[in-house]
Amino acid sequence: MSTNLSPTVEIADGITMPLVGLGTWQASDQEAYDAVRAALDVGYRLIDTATLYGNEAAVGRAVRESGLPREDIFVTTKLPPRNAGRERETIEASLKAMGLEHIDLWLIHWPPGGEARPDTWERFIEARDGGLTRAIGVSNYSPAQLDEITGATGIAPAVNQIEWAPALYDAATVAAHRNRGVTLEGWSPFNAGDVRDPVLVEIAERHGVSAHQVILRWHVELGVVVIPKSVDPARIAANLDVFGFRLDGDEIARIDGLGR
Ligand SMILES: NC(=O)c1ccc[n+]([C@@H]2O[C@H](COP(=O)([O-])OP(=O)(O)OC[C@H]3O[C@@H](n4cnc5c(N)ncnc54)[C@H](OP(=O)(O)O)[C@@H]3O)[C@@H](O)[C@H]2O)c1
Repeated sequence: MSTNLSPTVEIADGITMPLVGLGTWQASDQEAYDAVRAALDVGYRLIDTATLYGNEAAVGRAVRESGLPREDIFVTTKLPPRNAGRERETIEASLKAMGLEHIDLWLIHWPPGGEARPDTWERFIEARDGGLTRAIGVSNYSPAQLDEITGATGIAPAVNQIEWAPALYDAATVAAHRNRGVTLEGWSPFNAGDVRDPVLVEIAERHGVSAHQVILRWHVELGVVVIPKSVDPARIAANLDVFGFRLDGDEIARIDGLGR
């Protein structure tokens, strides 16, 4: 039963991605399976995993057994940086593990060896053109590294997934992605800052929500994709329940101001 659906953002021609999804880092197979099923039941349609998380098979099984049409669910996985040079076999292994015919977004998890690796990006473009993934992107890339792979291939990543939270807010980072047409996706919305910050607590009390929900709503207001991780059904539901209130301009500015 769907109670809530996230708004979406267009990340590439004709491809949209929910703004709020579920993270699965450090979730065991059973936790990941149960969390993904619980999330899909309450209306999540974006699930984030990675080859390095070791739970792709459980995530894929939960997606397949959810009863939802495959095209309603947006699945992200990631190439381990040490697999640069073995891109095709890595995505084929991810698809096999998940039991899926394609993924929706495939990311280079970190710049391999700290390098942008345009050759790896070329293989990503081939995987997309071959229908193995609908969209391609990167994670933990700097703006200069985005420019390096875009300049070498003429194709910009649809998404850059980086650590992002109120304490990390930086207007220049937002602008750098917007100017390049690259959708910003944040990881560690809670772990990368202090959810007990008085500014967040005060705004949360004013809206009758939790500080966690304020952080997620702030991402939505900025148009930043966010993938909170939880394996607890009540917290999974609460983390999607952020579309019934809005932050005003003053509140957004105060949260932005937590960036150091
Ligand atoms: N690309 C990358 O390099 C990269 C790096 C790190 C993470 N990620 C992705 O981003 C996702 C999110 O980041 P993260 O896993 O580091 O952490 P996070 O989402 O910032 O925080 C997760 C922690 O917060 C707790 N939590 C979740 N919702 C809560 C709520 N409503 N109230 C209170 N506590 C709550 C969770 O515990 P319970 O599970 O017990 O609820 C867990 O301990 C990851 O799972 C992964 O998919 C990507």
